[in-house]
Amino acid sequence: MSARLKGRKILVTGAASGMGREIARLFAAEGAALALLDRDAAGAAAVAAELDAAAHGCDVSDRAEVGLVVTAAGEALGGIDGIINAAGILDIVPFADLAPESWDRMLAVNLTGPFNVVKAALPFLQAAERATIVNIASVSALMPMAGTTGYSASKARLAMFTKAIAFDLGPNIRANSICPGVIKTEMTRYLWENAEHTARAADRVALKRLGEPGDVARAALFFSTEDSGFTTGTELPVDGGFSWR
Ligand SMILES: NC(=O)c1ccc[n+]([C@@H]2O[C@H](COP(=O)([O-])OP(=O)(O)OC[C@H]3O[C@@H](n4cnc5c(N)ncnc54)[C@H](O)[C@@H]3O)[C@@H](O)[C@H]2O)c1
Repeated sequence: MSARLKGRKILVTGAASGMGREIARLFAAEGAALALLDRDAAGAAAVAAELDAAAHGCDVSDRAEVGLVVTAAGEALGGIDGIINAAGILDIVPFADLAPESWDRMLAVNLTGPFNVVKAALPFLQAAERATIVNIASVSALMPMAGTTGYSASKARLAMFTKAIAFDLGPNIRANSICPGVIKTEMTRYLWENAEHTARAADRVALKRLGEPGDVARAALFFSTEDSGFTTGTELPVDGGFSWR
């Protein structure tokens, strides 16, 4: 590893599992000091123990809790100059069967969660010489898929939220989204545990495989370093060629 994040202080949400966990592992290997947030406090603590990082149990949709936890995390780290918003939930269900409570919850976690985290971290981000925000959206932000009304709406709004804050917070703070395709995590276990579903999902993309959490972690690293220093307000598909057709 090249210690590309040496000296950086980065807060990762959804760090107990999947992409958030893989991002935490890659960022720790690249020298970052980390605060790991997840509503699964024990899961976040286990990852933190592995990486010598700090863990905080926190529901990103709870604004008051996020305010307290992010402030405590920033004070303990001596600042925050990077955010990864990876916490998210998915409920795939045809619109006719979509419960209003599920719609509300997806917006609260997938959209208002990143708002709460960025808002609470803003004094730290503004105090940093340069800061980065990476929001994990989805190909569902770019194209509709069956049964994803609430999820797609939450992720499209997250991508536009990212563009809008990139405008407002530049030039010292950059903000970008990543739009993953199907990545093998707990969220998609129902799919990749079934060989037939996996083959069908792989067959519809140019690269003929499902994504790994590491595919997304490397994109998050790019957006969190000066390698992407002239890039802000974008959304990068990491989807094997799912969304361009
Ligand atoms: N897996 C995919 O194929 C895929 C594709 C596109 C986008 N995404 C997005 O990527 C992100 C990471 O998902 P993943 O695939 O790693 O899933 P995952 O289920 O493995 O991990 C999600 C993590 O978020 C945490 N979380 C959920 N709600 C939370 C809340 N309210 N507060 C705090 N933490 C919360 C969970 O406890 C879990 O640790 C999500 O935003 C998801 O929507 C996933």
